Amino acid sequence: MCGIVGYIGNKRAAPIILAGLKRLEYRGYDSAGVSTIDGGALTMAKKAGKVADLERATTVSKTEGTIGIGHTRWATHGVPNDVNAHPHADSSDNIVLVHNGIIENYVTIKKKLTAQGYAFKSDTDSEVLAVFIGMLYKTFGNFEQAVRTALCEVEGTFGIVVMCAEHPDMLIAARRGSPLILGVGNDEYVVASDAAAIVSHTRQVVYLHENEMAIVTRNGFTTKTILDIETDPVIEEISIELEQIEKGGFPHFMLKEIFEQPTTFHDGFRGRLLVDEGNVRLGGLSTVTDRLLNAKRIIITACGTSWHAALIGEYLLENMARIPVEVEYASEFRYRNPIIDSSDVVIAISQSGETADTLSAIRLAKANGATVIGMVNVVGSSIARETDAGVYLHAGPEIGVASTKAFTSQLCVLTQFSLYMARTRGMSAETGREIATALEAIPEMIERILAKSDEVKEIARQYADASNFLYLGRGYNFPVALEGALKLKEISYIHAEGYPAAEMKHGPIALINENMPVVFIAPKDEIYEKVVSNIEEVRARQGKVIAIASESDDFIDTVANHVIKIPDTLPMLIPILASIPLQLLAYHIAVFRDCNVDMPRNLAKSVTVE
Ligand code: F6R
Repeated sequence: MCGIVGYIGNKRAAPIILAGLKRLEYRGYDSAGVSTIDGGALTMAKKAGKVADLERATTVSKTEGTIGIGHTRWATHGVPNDVNAHPHADSSDNIVLVHNGIIENYVTIKKKLTAQGYAFKSDTDSEVLAVFIGMLYKTFGNFEQAVRTALCEVEGTFGIVVMCAEHPDMLIAARRGSPLILGVGNDEYVVASDAAAIVSHTRQVVYLHENEMAIVTRNGFTTKTILDIETDPVIEEISIELEQIEKGGFPHFMLKEIFEQPTTFHDGFRGRLLVDEGNVRLGGLSTVTDRLLNAKRIIITACGTSWHAALIGEYLLENMARIPVEVEYASEFRYRNPIIDSSDVVIAISQSGETADTLSAIRLAKANGATVIGMVNVVGSSIARETDAGVYLHAGPEIGVASTKAFTSQLCVLTQFSLYMARTRGMSAETGREIATALEAIPEMIERILAKSDEVKEIARQYADASNFLYLGRGYNFPVALEGALKLKEISYIHAEGYPAAEMKHGPIALINENMPVVFIAPKDEIYEKVVSNIEEVRARQGKVIAIASESDDFIDTVANHVIKIPDTLPMLIPILASIPLQLLAYHIAVFRDCNVDMPRNLAKSVTVE
């Protein structure tokens, strides 16, 4: 959620940290701050608002010092103001840290420290950790030991980078439940919560493991567990290109990512789809082939948009492979004592690979003996590393907070996984070829839909002032309705609900009047006529109908107020195409309402807290 950057080397730290924080702002943008050590003393600049506000309001960019830490925050404890912004220092201004995560037992620790006479400036759990380390430093006189001892005492999650004014040549980074990556340069090191802040400095990185810490100096680094057991760091190469994390001429990351979908979708099946054989090769699953063949049931767990992809995955797998599937919100699954055993396959779907609830859900599944598979976008992320096997989405970095290209890539991977499972369970090569051929044609179809962006924009202009929206679809397209509604509410703040179209008459129909726009996903499939009846019901009550319909459908224009046509394809692939105009509709409405599309209020990318 929050973004963390730390630097130690021979260059001025502040400009490097500020540039890194700007790249991480999508992870949180309530407040920002930077601290360096200059001439043996801490410098500190913090401000509510964005990194640009911090730069405007303080002299941070002029700060000297070749070691420093910075943070961009998504508030958990305490309102987003200057005082609660990170970094947080101990009471002697000797120890300072940035923290991502939640210290669950901070109240207990705070009480003990208060009893010893320590005072606190902020309402944050992070300051409690800084003061705690400061107290332990006074006791031991050893920086590393103070950090280790504190981390063994705290409950909850942390990704932290800590500095000590008395040790101006050392940064300590540690993680539990919150990602941290150490970038290894030439006599310089950048620690960050996300590779985006590292890639302009070096491609050599070490992913810290759970309960691992890195002790970094200008001349090298060591890693060990917080229990003081040395570990062997593995230096890996990150594959992200700089242009992938820049806007490339688009006004917003979200629009750029919507327009990347022909490519990202293609990347999701390149080298995997075997059209002639009507099959799929998923190398990342080769180690669990037998367990997949013997699976009695599949449970898919995820959150938010990824959960919507999971619902479509359920329809795909049950229809194609005839295997029972259950879809669970990760946050519910982990707390409801579910029945799981070694014959189950649990699939975790996640763009970031760091979502705390999804991570906990897979740990629970593993503890109960299930085979756990990840469908994850971020390479090397926690979920990717903790699963038994997996399939990467290959969508490239997704910076826009509202997920778009990762969703269609999830559908790409789920369709291929379903085809692979179906072929092992008796689907004919001929049927497999039909599906594979249709999947291969999708990128070109997405291009054709994107060419209609201005058409969608004109519809958006007419409904930008609406207070409510209803999204309706059936079968494969019910989850698309949910996803369309989520996209709209998160970036435009218009209340929107998604429903199975036939459920409308059981309640939501009461909401329909001349002020209610209703988006129907109404492709020409076997339930088309039923959906058209639902459209008529809305029109009879003066509701305004925006229909996402098949190119081959000439009739729908006579019943809907607006029609956005998408190419004809197999019903199972319609969700991929139908979601594109819904992304564009949400985007254009949000822009008409002057909303900050890439940084919607209260949201942050990668939800690493429960
Ligand atoms: C919505 C959105 C969120 C995420 C959810 C799960 O646009 O982005 O609902 O889908 O927080 O995140 P991941 O996929 O990273 O696990």
